[in-house]
Amino acid sequence: MADDLDDVTDETSESSEAQIAVHWREEGLYPPPAKFTAQANASDPAIREQYTEDKFPDCFTAYADLLTWFKKWDTVLDTSNAPFWKWFVGGELNASYNCVDRHLEDKGNKAALIWVPEPEGEAHQAITYRELYVRVNEFAAVLKDLGLKAGDRITFHMPMVPELPVAMLAAARLGIIHSQVFAGFSGTAAGHRIADSGSTVLVTMDGYYRSGDLLDHKVKADEAVDAAAKEGQQVDKVLVFRRYPGQYSAKTPMVEGRDVFVDDLLAAHKGELVEPARLQATDPLFLMYTSGTTGRPKGCQHSIGGYLSYVAGTSKYYQDIHPNDTYWCLADIGWITGHSYIVYGPLALGTTSVLYEGTPNYPDAARPWRIAHQLGVNIFHTSPTSIRMLRKISPDGPKDFDIHFKHMTTVGEPIEPEVWRWYFEKVGKNEAVIVDTWWQTETGGFLGSTLPGIDPMKPGSCGPGALGIYPAILDEDGNELPAGSGKAGNIVIRNPWPGVFQTIWGQPDRFVSTYYAKYNKDPDSKDWRDWPYFAGDGATQAADGYFRILGRVDDVINVAGHRLGTKELESAALTVNEVGEAAAVPVVDDIRGRIVEMYISLKPGFEPSPEIEKKVSDAIVTDIGKIARPKNIWIVPDMPKTRSGKIMRRVIAATSNFTDTGDITTLANPEVVEKIRHQVQSAKVAKGEVPRELTETELAEIKTFGSE
Ligand code: WTA
Repeated sequence: MADDLDDVTDETSESSEAQIAVHWREEGLYPPPAKFTAQANASDPAIREQYTEDKFPDCFTAYADLLTWFKKWDTVLDTSNAPFWKWFVGGELNASYNCVDRHLEDKGNKAALIWVPEPEGEAHQAITYRELYVRVNEFAAVLKDLGLKAGDRITFHMPMVPELPVAMLAAARLGIIHSQVFAGFSGTAAGHRIADSGSTVLVTMDGYYRSGDLLDHKVKADEAVDAAAKEGQQVDKVLVFRRYPGQYSAKTPMVEGRDVFVDDLLAAHKGELVEPARLQATDPLFLMYTSGTTGRPKGCQHSIGGYLSYVAGTSKYYQDIHPNDTYWCLADIGWITGHSYIVYGPLALGTTSVLYEGTPNYPDAARPWRIAHQLGVNIFHTSPTSIRMLRKISPDGPKDFDIHFKHMTTVGEPIEPEVWRWYFEKVGKNEAVIVDTWWQTETGGFLGSTLPGIDPMKPGSCGPGALGIYPAILDEDGNELPAGSGKAGNIVIRNPWPGVFQTIWGQPDRFVSTYYAKYNKDPDSKDWRDWPYFAGDGATQAADGYFRILGRVDDVINVAGHRLGTKELESAALTVNEVGEAAAVPVVDDIRGRIVEMYISLKPGFEPSPEIEKKVSDAIVTDIGKIARPKNIWIVPDMPKTRSGKIMRRVIAATSNFTDTGDITTLANPEVVEKIRHQVQSAKVAKGEVPRELTETELAEIKTFGSE
């Protein structure tokens, strides 16, 4: 960010032009359905008064009170080491105890999790709180036996199977810090995260189903261990769950002395109980890696007490979870949404949380409706990418199914108002309330959302700040843009909240510089008011106070709700010998929101060829995973650059999106722009990949891409 000082003046004036040019169309409001409000956990608007700024931070004790504490906290919020906030200091608790043990007395025989395997011929598995208790304890006994203890890190590279929440809760029981890496990430990506976190144990599975195929997942464990070793981190044990216990579903051999089947280990610990450790509220619960502006992913460290309080409170008021609901969040536990709103939030409240192994459209578009109907799901939680896909392949939604959701969530990307309306009318049958929840890996839980029983909904806007969250929109100089100004700026949160991450694992300076330095005027200040949290999203605020999130302002591309750092994509491309320079840009896509296109220039002496394109694509899949595979790779004669040599990503982004490249006269090589435009656009025309006309929000994003 700060290393391109030459460009700062140019870029700032460009982005403010973009801001002024945008005119936000106001959408109509939808009142919450009366039937929903009548049963909602928050139905009286007076609840807001309990969370006004004068009641901060004590207002959040209402969230902490939803948990069972071994010892109550002494201090609600300690700001003495700002901005490393400490919540509920002196308090002692255990997340596993809160999600499992404490429900045994009155909900022991109730389903905690219902797991739905992808093959429809396989029956779903309901796991009661009592069974969960047994499984968590036995796996905790396995971990303890390996010598793992509080504060150690463990990496999971697990698919969507019940063994994953079991493993998380077992680690949490002992205070072992877990780091789950999305199963779709490559072995190498898992290896980088193992090394960064310093894990000596990797937990994986032999295989799992995805779109009808039983994938060999164990092979990635071998790649992960190698990648970690290259960074100096030795993995001593690889624990392999078996998709079908007693039978091995992978082709990759087990490594003698290192790899062990978990079902074999568990047999030795049958019925064993492990006391939940008394842990400090401020001890870390888990790490969740996310992408940023450098190639090194950020391990967002979340606390036990603050995080668990925040996800319990927001699950109660925003997901409106009651103990008798059947709640299905389609996210993956490899992303923060799954951690917070499949595992920790719903289980802390003692509800039934559904876990689905596969892809929603397998074997056909009606699969989600069959699952929802069969299990009696009444709260449905998914992303705009899934909603867009369902809208395309199942345009009538669950019309022919006796399904009545009371509540639906959209999360992870901006949702287009037409897509929102389809979700409301067809999936919710005009009777379900929708929350559009805006938040991040870093924030633990929701930051912006309507209160479902109280606030009217506005398609395309997340709503006001969540209870106790005070967002603001600031311009580059830190001036607040008032509500209704019609101008876009950077959304910040002016105050800390219990769910906020504690630091970036091993990179405290990066934590401060990325999230807090931008708007801090006094680095020595211990007053939280001096440390607005910079979210890295552009947004605008309407006169009614509702926020509309426009997307990332940093070099991150949000593909189907997955954050991919351009630097990570580019460093992967640069591992190919022929590649001289690489630049990744976002292209608007009707289903996945954004997709990635890569621009490559070759080292002297090499000629463009399909083989080089393939090498680049393979390198990205190997380093990151299939989700990052670029839609197109364009080998161009040269990159458009500023006179200081910086690649002008906004110019190539405009080319790929068929939008105006803007002023290019200040470039060092303006002539190359037309060449690239001709090359790329004629190829895209030939492939039928001409995008529709972009919305104003999309245009604004493309126009400013890479300007931070
Ligand atoms: C984007 C996912 C618009 C945003 C929970 C944010 C959203 C990034 C929304 C975080 C929303 C998330 N509307 N954009 N409702 N929710 N985003 O860390 O750009 O995977 O910064 O967390 O997704 O992605 P992450």
